[in-house]
Amino acid sequence: MSGMETVHVATRQRDYDIIIGRNLLPEVGQRLRAVLPKCRSAIVVTDDTVEKLFAGEVLASLEAAGISAHSCVFPHGEEHKTMATVLSILESMEAHGLQRSSAVVALGGGVVGDMAGLAAALYMRGVPFIQLPTTLLAAQDSSVGGKTAVNLGAKNIVGAFWQPSLVLCDCNALDHLPPYIFADGLAEMIKHGAVSDLGLFEMLERGEHRKNLPECIRRSVSVKAAVVSADERDTGARQILNFGHTVGHAIEKCSRFWVTHGSAVAIGMCVMARACERQGIAEPGSAGRLERLVNACSLPTRTEFPADELYAAALGDKKRSGDSIALLRMRSVGDCYISTEPVEALAEVLREGL
Ligand SMILES: NC(=O)c1ccc[n+]([C@@H]2O[C@H](COP(=O)([O-])OP(=O)(O)OC[C@H]3O[C@@H](n4cnc5c(N)ncnc54)[C@H](O)[C@@H]3O)[C@@H](O)[C@H]2O)c1
Ligand SMILES: [Zn+2]
Repeated sequence: MSGMETVHVATRQRDYDIIIGRNLLPEVGQRLRAVLPKCRSAIVVTDDTVEKLFAGEVLASLEAAGISAHSCVFPHGEEHKTMATVLSILESMEAHGLQRSSAVVALGGGVVGDMAGLAAALYMRGVPFIQLPTTLLAAQDSSVGGKTAVNLGAKNIVGAFWQPSLVLCDCNALDHLPPYIFADGLAEMIKHGAVSDLGLFEMLERGEHRKNLPECIRRSVSVKAAVVSADERDTGARQILNFGHTVGHAIEKCSRFWVTHGSAVAIGMCVMARACERQGIAEPGSAGRLERLVNACSLPTRTEFPADELYAAALGDKKRSGDSIALLRMRSVGDCYISTEPVEALAEVLREGL
């Protein structure tokens, strides 16, 4: 089939494919049966917004493939990413008599994927799950890495590593996203390009994410997949994916999460790039190039929060001097590296980069 892209992900738990293309949702049933031949029943976990858009065709496709399917719907939004929602998913799975061979189908963004994945990891000590990401963020970020989680006071503090058996990303679904949610996902794509795939960065500069989204997602996913397979349990090397995130998280905190994750990361990347350029670490022109792309993607490049507030927010309880911090430095667009430095170096980055 033309225009279809596949990324094979190998993990210790299981190997799986991420298939990216168009008109994939109507094929969910057949494709699920191909990877899980014993599956006869499934639960489609989704939020109320996504349900209205796509649940009907997903349920119909599963039924047509001989898989009895029910949906489990909860209200959209990060505030519902809780243990209580996961419990309601588990109760629904039990009530519908799901077996060890049954499947959990996550239909939605990262919030749905994180909770459906956790419910799949817990039910009968683990049942298969497949992901149908409907946001750009879920398609290229949470579809790889096997992390599932809910918030409990702190964000993502309870979870498990549980790998999907298949990820189907139907780009037609992404056409329904409000522009600001699409832009939010683009921030992570810019990040993957800036960190290690200059070719992807150049595709974005040429605006190819508008014309050839499946290929851009495939390249973006591949960056994450390569890093994650080298560091499955998140013990160090994955930090490279945190480019823009230390300052980004600080901006999210200072704004009481009014600034979205993608916008905060976009600013965080620009702050780091400007600082690295001023400090003679990054090639001249790198920061300007990054800023132009961030701008073109309708994302912000600067914040009003002062350096001292951001510094305090970034360090939280790590404020003692002498402690070290992993900073994601940029040499040039497409070439970033992890640098362990004294925490004070972050203050310098904020002074130089804001
Ligand atoms: N597991 C991981 O590795 C990983 C990685 C990154 C982020 N995350 C998590 O992902 C979550 C954020 O994910 P997100 O940005 O996808 O948020 P989300 O799941 O809340 O989706 C954003 C909004 O878009 C709506 N929506 C989804 N698909 C749509 C579509 N096709 N058309 C119109 N509206 C649609 C949703 O109903 C929701 O209101 C966070 O909780 C974060 O912690 C997890
Ligand atoms: Zn992120």
